[in-house]
Amino acid sequence: MKTLVVMNEKGGVGKTTLSIHAAWFFAERYRTLVLDLDQQANLSYTLEGHLGSVDAVQLFKEETRIPASGHVTVARATDELLEAERVDQSAITVFRDSVQANAPDYDICIIDTPPILGLRTFAALLAADAVLAPIELGDYSLTGVQRLMQSIKGVANHYGRPEPHFLGLLASKFDRRSPRERALFEGLAAEIGGLLFPGVVTKRDVYARAASERIPVWMMKGAAGRDAGDEIRGVFSTVEKMMELTHG
Ligand SMILES: Nc1ncnc2c1ncn2[C@@H]1O[C@H](COP(=O)(O)OP(=O)(O)OP(=O)(O)O)[C@@H](O)[C@H]1O
Ligand SMILES: [Mg+2]
Repeated sequence: MKTLVVMNEKGGVGKTTLSIHAAWFFAERYRTLVLDLDQQANLSYTLEGHLGSVDAVQLFKEETRIPASGHVTVARATDELLEAERVDQSAITVFRDSVQANAPDYDICIIDTPPILGLRTFAALLAADAVLAPIELGDYSLTGVQRLMQSIKGVANHYGRPEPHFLGLLASKFDRRSPRERALFEGLAAEIGGLLFPGVVTKRDVYARAASERIPVWMMKGAAGRDAGDEIRGVFSTVEKMMELTHG
């Protein structure tokens, strides 16, 4: 099992939208586990049909295995996760052990994180094989990116483990029609091109409509759904290759 963490302490950049679509995409071919660590529970709500029998908070309390409930199994977010954020640091390694305990039963574990660099995100980073960081170009800041990279490094160093594979900063609500955003993207590529994910997700209204229907954009009728679907599926195909996913 490989673990993919979707993180950015900035709110509203597309973490949950990406995590949900990743779950749908990977569940087509892999035994997929999804952990919703954000008490806002947007992911748990959209993927309600796939909720397993275990709440995500349980993984912080004791080593926990999550019985698979189908192609995709979701450990739901609850308000209790806020308390997990405040307990002592040992919850971080307990969470890591919980994730590892599920390795025999799943091929991929996708973790959606809250917009805070706190205990839950650090725990996710300790369990991570790969990290994907969606960004919004409009309000992108280099300081934010530095903090993000430092937290990935910091967790690995602190716990004496190799750093997870950083898949890149993914422009996840990219407005192609905005000359300003296109210029920002070019500037970013010139400045920190090596940190950019090879692909983007274009900003499209179909994401909101698909979320309200609780289906992936590629299931939406019409050209908008098809175009969005082709694009985001391409992103996940790249993620799949970068993570060298296998069955088992
Ligand atoms: N590619 C996109 N095009 C248009 N809207 C998008 C896109 N991606 C996400 N959104 C919208 O942006 C809003 C925030 O997205 P999302 O909830 O995925 O972000 P988040 O990073 O998980 O937020 P939070 O930090 O609050 O958890 C949602 O309304 C979502 O529908
Ligand atoms: Mg979210």
